[in-house]
Amino acid sequence: MARKFFVGGNWKCNGTTEEVKKIVGTLNEAEIPSEDVVEVVVSPPFVFLSLVKNLLRSEIQVAAQNCWVRKGGAFTGEVSAEMLVNLAIPWVIIGHSERRLILNESNEFVGDKVAYALSQGIKVIACVGETLEQRESGATLEVVAAQTKAIAEKISNWDNVVLAYEPVWAIGTGKVASPAQAQEVHHELRKWFSDNVSADVAGSIRIIYGGSVNGANCKELAAQPDLDGFLVGGASLKPEFVDIIKSAT
Ligand code: G3H
Repeated sequence: MARKFFVGGNWKCNGTTEEVKKIVGTLNEAEIPSEDVVEVVVSPPFVFLSLVKNLLRSEIQVAAQNCWVRKGGAFTGEVSAEMLVNLAIPWVIIGHSERRLILNESNEFVGDKVAYALSQGIKVIACVGETLEQRESGATLEVVAAQTKAIAEKISNWDNVVLAYEPVWAIGTGKVASPAQAQEVHHELRKWFSDNVSADVAGSIRIIYGGSVNGANCKELAAQPDLDGFLVGGASLKPEFVDIIKSAT
């Protein structure tokens, strides 16, 4: 079965109630391809999840940007997967490089988080990607394979996982990966799945790209054979997010 194009908008730690309502208004009024063609998910900060879910058109889904690694309880400041289920939030982003690098989330911790969220019925956008130093030392494939392997060691069913390849050097920098650079890593990741998980998963898993995607560069990236969509940061807060959604067609 063909892989359905996936466009995620990661709003990160941005927005006021008024700004969030404005973005939702833009998305609600936009002409976008049907759900048969593209799956669209936006990820507001926790405090706006319910507001966005209540106001946003039903064809666009909502994701949290993180969740706790196990069942909730005495973990001050954390939000559990059970709470997301309670709010009917269907998706969560796990392992974003900003959490790996700033909050020291290890590959193993990310793998545990992915497994726990899936066990609660939440679909996961799992992020992997190398730093500039790792790329320049030729370690890109080794790094993304190790990050993916740490997840593979904790889960056996990839049906509800989208893998986001986000080179750290491209995030928020305006230095988007070239279509060839992105395709190379996506292709190698798919081969990794074929060699280490199964041919079925290699063929069906959606591998999306993130890092300085915008309305101007999305078309050429979207045309790459192993690139199944985007995880968009900065541009997902702007009307051009609609152009990125349209790159699915
Ligand atoms: O999750 C999204 C990525 O970190 C990309 O962010 O589009 O602002 O570079 P960016």
